[in-house]
Amino acid sequence: MSATPCSPLAGKHIVLGICGGIAAYKSVFLLRLLIKAGAEVQVVITPAGKQFITPVTLSALSQKPVVSEFFTANTGEWHSHVDLGLWADCMVIAPATASTIGKMAHGVADNMLVTTYLSAKSHVFVAPAMDLDMMAHPSTQANLDLLRSYGNTIIEPETGYLASGLTGKGRMEEPENIVKVLEQHFARTRSLEGKKVLITAGPTYEKIDPVRFIGNYSSGKMGYALAEECAARGAEVTLVSGPVAITTEAPGVKVVKVESAREMLAECEKVFAGSDISIMCAAVADYAPAAVAESKIKREHSDVPVIELVKNPDIAATLGTAKRQGQILAGFALETDNEADNAAEKLDRKNLDLIVMNSLRDKGAGFGTDTNKVTIIDRTGAYPYPLKSKREVASDIIDNIETRL
Ligand code: C5P
Repeated sequence: MSATPCSPLAGKHIVLGICGGIAAYKSVFLLRLLIKAGAEVQVVITPAGKQFITPVTLSALSQKPVVSEFFTANTGEWHSHVDLGLWADCMVIAPATASTIGKMAHGVADNMLVTTYLSAKSHVFVAPAMDLDMMAHPSTQANLDLLRSYGNTIIEPETGYLASGLTGKGRMEEPENIVKVLEQHFARTRSLEGKKVLITAGPTYEKIDPVRFIGNYSSGKMGYALAEECAARGAEVTLVSGPVAITTEAPGVKVVKVESAREMLAECEKVFAGSDISIMCAAVADYAPAAVAESKIKREHSDVPVIELVKNPDIAATLGTAKRQGQILAGFALETDNEADNAAEKLDRKNLDLIVMNSLRDKGAGFGTDTNKVTIIDRTGAYPYPLKSKREVASDIIDNIETRL
């Protein structure tokens, strides 16, 4: 079989997970297409999967023994799910049954496929296939939401004729289309090679005294997801982060920890001039106490204290004033009402190229959640996106920014 010329899948290591469903027969075609595109494929099949498709067919096509059990019974050879998880450039589970989706969502590691999934460091794609009622069940939907929140991509099933004889949503996406999704993923992988990106994330803390501050509920998750997405595409990222509980180990991301808005501005100003893309994702406090008390303000020694506030610098607007031709500056707007007008006003006032708007009125959007629902606003209009995991939202935002480079 000759390889498809120049497929982004050429040379990629792909773990193909197969579960026990009628659609397992389609995995043979998927495997064939992946091999044809030049990928190296390791099949991992669940015990139930083997009831639907024989490992002989799969090993013949992949030219590798199919992995299913933790040990080979007669030799005692141990199959390392950790090694497989590290080897993979991506993992695709097709078909993914309701049972395996549930196990993946909750870490029930009782077979080789789920242990490999839990060890996978690379991106995971999940192509569900099941009867329409199973697919629509709140349990399945909640488990799929959990997988999305882990950053996995769900390749939605199609609506059509099902093995049960019913018609509805549950048919596994066609192998050609699954391959297209994987190709798009790898095509954009190094699209920011050589680019420098500045991202702000998290809240700022404005000190009142040595033990108290003015802050907000920002978790930093959106900014960290953006930083990891840019780094995954090959960019050199400086992430200027306010105090958050999360960390990132992503190679290519330099984290600079700050506390106050003034510190955040100072760190941004060090790198802004050399940045191709700057994304202001931090929830910066608008005001800071005019003076920081040297010792803890005591209840018993004073009347109700009055804390005088001063305006913080607007980091996005300050950088917007210094922006050069060719630099891209993006902001965020978390709104509670009159969303689009407020966001559009900020776009102009801060000299931004685009603004990512989310509304606290949307369920699953805003602070602390693992998901977000955004509208990207620029001078040509407003472009709404559906509710997605923050990593997927990050990918949509970076796709949008890349069109401007
Ligand atoms: O004006 P508002 O705070 O709603 O604007 C939000 C946008 O401006 C975000 O991109 C935020 O990171 C940025 N911002 C800033 N410095 C501030 C206030 C907001 O960079 N002091």
